Amino acid sequence: MASTILLVHNGKQAPSAVENVLSGGEWRVAFSSAADVRTALIREAPETVVFYHENPSRENASRVFDTVKTFDDNLPLIVVANSKALEDAVALMKAGAHDYFSLPVDKSNLKNSVAHAIKLYGLTKRVFLLESQMGMKEGLDDIVGCSPKMLEVFNLVQMVAKSNATVLILGESGTGKELVAKAIHRHSPRAAKILLDINCGAIPRELLENEMFGHERGAYTGADRRYIGSFERANGGSMFLDEISEMEPQLQVKLLRFLQERNFMRVGGTETINVDVRIIAATNRDLTKMVGEGRFREDLYYRLNVVPLRIPPLRERREDIPLLAKYFLQRMSAKNEKIFLDFAPQVMDALISHDWPGNVRELENVIERVVVLHNDTRVKMAHLPPVIKDATKKAVAAAEDLPQAEEGKIIPLELVEKYAIESALRGCMGNVAEAARKLRIGQATLYRKIKEYGLKS
Ligand SMILES: Nc1ncnc2c1ncn2[C@@H]1O[C@H](COP(=O)(O)OP(=O)(O)OP(=O)(O)O)[C@@H](O)[C@H]1O
Ligand SMILES: [Mg+2]
Repeated sequence: MASTILLVHNGKQAPSAVENVLSGGEWRVAFSSAADVRTALIREAPETVVFYHENPSRENASRVFDTVKTFDDNLPLIVVANSKALEDAVALMKAGAHDYFSLPVDKSNLKNSVAHAIKLYGLTKRVFLLESQMGMKEGLDDIVGCSPKMLEVFNLVQMVAKSNATVLILGESGTGKELVAKAIHRHSPRAAKILLDINCGAIPRELLENEMFGHERGAYTGADRRYIGSFERANGGSMFLDEISEMEPQLQVKLLRFLQERNFMRVGGTETINVDVRIIAATNRDLTKMVGEGRFREDLYYRLNVVPLRIPPLRERREDIPLLAKYFLQRMSAKNEKIFLDFAPQVMDALISHDWPGNVRELENVIERVVVLHNDTRVKMAHLPPVIKDATKKAVAAAEDLPQAEEGKIIPLELVEKYAIESALRGCMGNVAEAARKLRIGQATLYRKIKEYGLKS
């Protein structure tokens, strides 16, 4: 995508001397009047601003300058001025303008200056991104989290990574099981070797056995050559068996045997093959229940469950929501070349209140959708999909003792108040001081009401 230059001028027509130079480059040129700079900056997300300053009115010039610098302190501003406005220009340079040209402009100098400014801005942005990623200490590699529950997960990951023990990762869909499996491998002594993964739910039974253990030539019709399976290819490394609950009983037996003996035979083979592979399995199903129903082998369950690693659903660690939301906003903005910087406070409240049945994946998708569909610097309520916006309303309706919030129905004020307090406490993770501030009442009052309604803070 071509870089954008914003040409700010106050004339009826763009100054042709400057425009000609700029449109000759490999850039896109957008225009704005001095009064509309802020909107134009948001809309165009330029890499450089050229300010054509004709009238010697210092107030006008410094207003443009301030707007640009407040919007983004690193955005280069180049001033083109006639000699009458020279004094202003000097003041602007002192205040941090990138460059200055007096009319008539030297075309090639202006072009070079713009190219330099664009390059500089690109580098600054990259440094900024890297710094903020490095500063993201809250997490383990690419796994973001600051809640006590996730810190426990991070600790456990690092501990089990050092051993050779089989790990069973448990957690609802979208909680980050795959990320954790990768982190375990990366932090293990096997990190330099390969990590292979097989999704047991996505492959038909016969193919799954083939994929895992390989086959000999002539094992069945069509098997015209030997095939080396994942377990052999992963020798020395790790094997991630995702959706382990979906493995058929016959194959469960073969996996159990492997976990006990550390060897196997290729399909149709007679040779026993020994490999050194670390097994990491994952599931979003309740395996103990499946064992109870006879759908998953109990002996295999115990072999896999040597080190269980449970990743809690997002609604049980709401402290992670702001951190994750900011992380995804930054990544998606960079990926989609957008300029989103932060969230309106109500938006963050709504994100924290939502229950996230799809967990982190759902949050990631919501943020990506906002970034792709909108152009702004701040995420606003209007950008959110209805399901999140309505989270609060739905929770009201779901509160068992609260009548449906239909039009025309009258709700006892007491219930509304109780609900407001409950959701504020939930949203603030039980922090009474913060909840009181958001409810705009005193802390003492809030404590009294908590007692009155028999709520837990
Ligand atoms: N703590 C986290 N920090 C950053 N990204 C995360 C985190 N947890 C999950 N994600 C992201 O959310 C998405 C879903 O994660 P992942 O695929 O690991 O979930 P899963 O538990 O394997 O889900 P499923 O059971 O549906 O396979 C991925 O894009 C992943 O990068
Ligand atoms: Mg997964």
